[in-house]
Amino acid sequence: MLRVGVMVSGGGTNLQAILDAMEKGKLSNVEIAVVISNNPGAYALERARNHGIPAVSLSPKDFSVREAFEEALLEQVDSYHLDLIVLAGFLVKIPEKMVEKYEGRIINIHPSLIPSFCGVGYYGLKVHEAALTRGVKVTGATVHYVDSGMDTGPILLQKAVEVKEGDTPETLQKRVMEEAEWVILPEAIGWIADREAKG
Ligand code: GAR
Repeated sequence: MLRVGVMVSGGGTNLQAILDAMEKGKLSNVEIAVVISNNPGAYALERARNHGIPAVSLSPKDFSVREAFEEALLEQVDSYHLDLIVLAGFLVKIPEKMVEKYEGRIINIHPSLIPSFCGVGYYGLKVHEAALTRGVKVTGATVHYVDSGMDTGPILLQKAVEVKEGDTPETLQKRVMEEAEWVILPEAIGWIADREAKG
């Protein structure tokens, strides 16, 4: 059983997609051991509680210095003995120490086809605004391993999504989520779980 920790900052629709895939039997050999958020008001925490999953909130605002927050975050993560950490809309940079310790065991979902519209400043709706401003006709989502850069780690899965005439950042975000993110994130976790199960 792959012990997974999901890290979130907002609504948690990607977390929900993982939970739905598990419930439908499309994702097996996986256990969500904890959901961690930097935002105590994140609806994703509610989704976790509704499923009886430990929901932990740890805000940088509760710490006087960044190092103390990062240490506390790593301590929490360590305490759950995770095999895989999934960043599902986690909008905080992962501490360097954590990247090193969990090398090859952290994945992230990003709402574009990396290397387009990624890196510092590209998150959430901003990604879709940039895609529309550039006028691309195809966008999508990427699941990648996390390294010490911003959206620079090895790519695991990608799925393309068509941009349609008259799209707004909101309509495009919705289509990218429904057609790509909610599909490839559970798929990537399943792929890793299968690989681990086979040894
Ligand atoms: C998702 O679109 C995810 O790809 C994005 O934040 C959203 C979170 O939504 N992540 C990034 O932009 C990371 N750079 P959710 O909380 O409903 O899953």
